[in-house]
Amino acid sequence: MSVQALALTLLSISAATLAAPARLTLRLSFGAAATNDNIQGWQDDISNVNGFLNTAAAGLLSGAQLATTATQLLLDIPGAAADEPNCLIALTGLLNPTDTTAVDASDDLMAIIGGVLGNLTTIVDNPSDAAAISSAVDQINCLRYANRCNFVLPDIDEVCAGAVANNAGATSATTVGPLVCPVPAPGSFVCPAA
Ligand SMILES: *[C@@H]1O[C@H](CO)[C@@H](O)[C@H](O)[C@H]1NC(C)=O
Repeated sequence: MSVQALALTLLSISAATLAAPARLTLRLSFGAAATNDNIQGWQDDISNVNGFLNTAAAGLLSGAQLATTATQLLLDIPGAAADEPNCLIALTGLLNPTDTTAVDASDDLMAIIGGVLGNLTTIVDNPSDAAAISSAVDQINCLRYANRCNFVLPDIDEVCAGAVANNAGATSATTVGPLVCPVPAPGSFVCPAA
């Protein structure tokens, strides 16, 4: 390929790449764009929390290393656990108030989502206490009333599905769980006896 032909090819690739998002944005309503952004943001947060739980379960990191990762997850930035309430609030505002399935799931999540952040804080505060760290990881995986595998992640799917249903043009995503429950659903994970 000549230099000119290569330059033309690169030019058309970058033009196509730049044009695609602009066309997409024009076609979507404000609600659909906000729905998609928040669903994607929440999935990114979940994926990072899953990574943390998988790493903790593998037992390869020291308490201090886990505490460092937990500190990152507690920063109020995209991709962190602390960003999850932002996505929950934004998507709840995009629900149809008569959609009781999605509204109930949102209410459940509002009540329990702080437990994840609280248990991450326990890990940050106790880097040299292996028992406290292991108990905090168990509580995130297996919250007594709000087990992440069986209830929290399926609730998130219901909130996302409700926002998609109420905002034409939005697209759904399916939440993936940590290795202990790759397909989160009621009964997908049996909590160890306390
Ligand atoms: C940890 O999770 C448990 C189980 O849901 C919850 O009851 C507890 O309050 C959480 N701990 C903190 C410090 O938030």
